[in-house]
Amino acid sequence: MSTRVATAFAPGRVNLIGEHTDYNDGLALAFSVRAGVTVSAVAGSGEQLEVIAHDLGARDTFSRREPGPASGWRAYVRGAVAELQEQGYRPSATRLEIRSDLAIGAGMSSSAALTVAVCLALIAQGGEQPPAATALARICQRVEARWAGAETGLLDQLTSLLGTADHVLLIDFLTLEAQTLALDLRGFELVLLPTGQARTNAASGYNERREQCREAAHRMRVESLRDATIQDLHMLPDTLARRARHVITENGRVLAATRALGDGDLTALGGLLDRSHASLRDDFEVSTDAVEAAVAELKAAGAVGARLMGGGFGGSVLALMPPGTVAPAGATVVSPGPGAHLIA
Ligand code: GLA
Repeated sequence: MSTRVATAFAPGRVNLIGEHTDYNDGLALAFSVRAGVTVSAVAGSGEQLEVIAHDLGARDTFSRREPGPASGWRAYVRGAVAELQEQGYRPSATRLEIRSDLAIGAGMSSSAALTVAVCLALIAQGGEQPPAATALARICQRVEARWAGAETGLLDQLTSLLGTADHVLLIDFLTLEAQTLALDLRGFELVLLPTGQARTNAASGYNERREQCREAAHRMRVESLRDATIQDLHMLPDTLARRARHVITENGRVLAATRALGDGDLTALGGLLDRSHASLRDDFEVSTDAVEAAVAELKAAGAVGARLMGGGFGGSVLALMPPGTVAPAGATVVSPGPGAHLIA
């Protein structure tokens, strides 16, 4: 039965390690943060949906049946409404109220959080049952691909949906299975330093990287880069070989990071973050001057590891700070909070 108002919260995410592995059937170690997007879906009468983005001081109004294209944050809301209907859901809300404490373009997946929260609120308001997390993640992924023009993987959506306070998820994108592991940092802190360079997947070299990975897998005659080995790289021209090498070695670093966490060896974890960054910079080539400056600042402040986080080309840098060090001004401590849920 539909209700007058349903409210859902979906968090942003921090990817500890495992970058550009999701769309290559690879591995990642990620958690949902405490900050996120809260959406209330309110019942009313009529075919129009009015959307109020309180923190942006912005609005949108469109036909629920045929949302039509838009840009920026509006594309995600309209896309969510359209894709839900394509899956047989019947959203009937006439107003959506959006509140967020997640910075846009900072690399914490504000767009995935927005999409997940809109879907959950609309489904609950309509009195319908949400699909399984993997199915909902795919719906949100289609919103990003068809409505915002970025062919992302499932990292952001799955982490937002499956995250748990105080835990990190080891996600295997081949099987879409996620293991929940306790995150004990033994007094170290994870911090994020914004680079000041706002990013969107669609406007970066994201789709090009994805295409290069596809091409590399095709030339190595494997289903995806998950099945490729370092020994196969000689089959590829230089650029494709470096892209593939990043993905292959990054999957290895995710497993090594999982072991380091299990052993409580935070220094080893830091070393893996540094190596992940070097690989993203030199082999995957998704760093920028602003990212390098932020990494250097964090290392100078004593970080045992620092790396660009998310798609690259800006956003935020993630660093592991040992006890007794002081992170640079502008950095914020991040820790795992609960995954997406309805708010009574
Ligand atoms: C962006 C995408 C994710 C993932 C990361 C890189 O955040 O949305 O799907 O590919 O980049 O790891």
